[in-house]
Amino acid sequence: MCAGNQFWVRVNSNGFRKIDYSNYCIVGRKGQGILIAADNSGGCGLTQLGLSAPDITVKSPQSDDLFRLLVDSVRDYAIFVLSPDGHVLTWNAGARALKGYEKSEIIGKHFSVFYQPEAIASGWPSRELTLAEKEGRFVDEGWRVKKDGSTFWASVTITALRDTAGKLSGFAKVTQDMTERREAAERIQNLHRELRTRIAQLDESQRVIELRTLELQKLSGRVLSIQDEERRRLARDLHDDLGQQLAALKMIVDRMKNEEAGKVAEDALATVRNLSYLLHPPLLDETGLRAALYWFVEGMTKRSNIDISLTVQPQNFPRLGSEIETTIFRVVQEALTNVFRHAQSESARVEIEKHADWITVRVRDYGKGMPAELDLLSSVTRMGVGIAGMRERLRQFGGDLSVSRSEPGTLVEAKIPVFA
Ligand SMILES: Nc1ncnc2c1ncn2[C@@H]1O[C@H](COP(=O)(O)OP(=O)(O)OP(=O)(O)O)[C@@H](O)[C@H]1O
Ligand SMILES: [Mg+2]
Repeated sequence: MCAGNQFWVRVNSNGFRKIDYSNYCIVGRKGQGILIAADNSGGCGLTQLGLSAPDITVKSPQSDDLFRLLVDSVRDYAIFVLSPDGHVLTWNAGARALKGYEKSEIIGKHFSVFYQPEAIASGWPSRELTLAEKEGRFVDEGWRVKKDGSTFWASVTITALRDTAGKLSGFAKVTQDMTERREAAERIQNLHRELRTRIAQLDESQRVIELRTLELQKLSGRVLSIQDEERRRLARDLHDDLGQQLAALKMIVDRMKNEEAGKVAEDALATVRNLSYLLHPPLLDETGLRAALYWFVEGMTKRSNIDISLTVQPQNFPRLGSEIETTIFRVVQEALTNVFRHAQSESARVEIEKHADWITVRVRDYGKGMPAELDLLSSVTRMGVGIAGMRERLRQFGGDLSVSRSEPGTLVEAKIPVFA
């Protein structure tokens, strides 16, 4: 180890400059010190200190010893000097530890023994020296060979050493074992690659899910419209076939002057007509939403004994297209049916408002309110078919539905965009 951790160098006769050599090492001898910077990154060279060899005079009285001690003590770097034609001139402890050669075995050998056969065959070792000589410094990374034939990934810096006259006197070579760092970098790269693959797979799954969701939405839209069609057909069949037959039966019974049978026939006719209208109110097609809603609310009030108020704004409510009108009708129908079945409310209020770009539908009751666990869940998964069906119908038109406790009671609110 070197004694102390600083030394002085004279720079261009401008005075001495203090250098902390815990990060640097010195090779060379006889007053004309040659400074090699070998920092933690494995970089090496006078240029790193902003100095050139002729600039430097080491002030220490034992500079020869210092050079030797310093270079010898460095263990993390193989530091050695090559002759101008590439033969090993010096060998430090780091070089022995890294490459496995004893000093006596390697001094005088050509440095190409550290290279793989292919590199030697392509003339790469000599090219490195040529480049270092030309540029002053050459930095490389690559596989190098140890004495036992094993390989390691090396970071190599070769610095051309010149005497005061500028003549090439050799090369300083600093080598660091980067195998672990390279393996770590490779592991990181592999992990990145794997991560990218996983992300791509996730993206693909998400795409498939989106596609399936779209297909399901299309399907549920189709199911709803088939359901509406079917209700319409059933309503027509009930009204036109069974209704007509019952009407004929009633006429016959009336002719028979059997009052009791006449009453039964009349009730049956009324039930069939009512069923038919509930399945699909003809008013919805004929006069529109407003009339159909008034008809439905009136019937519901009678059937349920709940006091239901209905306001439809504006007074001259426009026609909206059969599908949206049916949807709004079904929302009110389901919400009021829920009030009747679940709310235990004496009254309810229905409000329909048409704004410029959307319609709001509010059905409010004053009963016991939604069960807490359903209120908390905004998802439809735990709900029955009714609320889920309303939501799905609305979604088909880009609308949405909220069902909330309203202290007291429940508020069902739907918003449906309409385009003029
Ligand atoms: N106005 C309300 N007041 C109190 N609870 C309600 C009200 N509306 C709905 N609920 C609760 O929400 C649940 C889900 O309603 P939803 O309409 O989805 O299904 P359902 O009425 O039970 O069955 P379905 O409508 O499929 O015949 C109901 O079972 C009921 O517990
Ligand atoms: Mg319901």
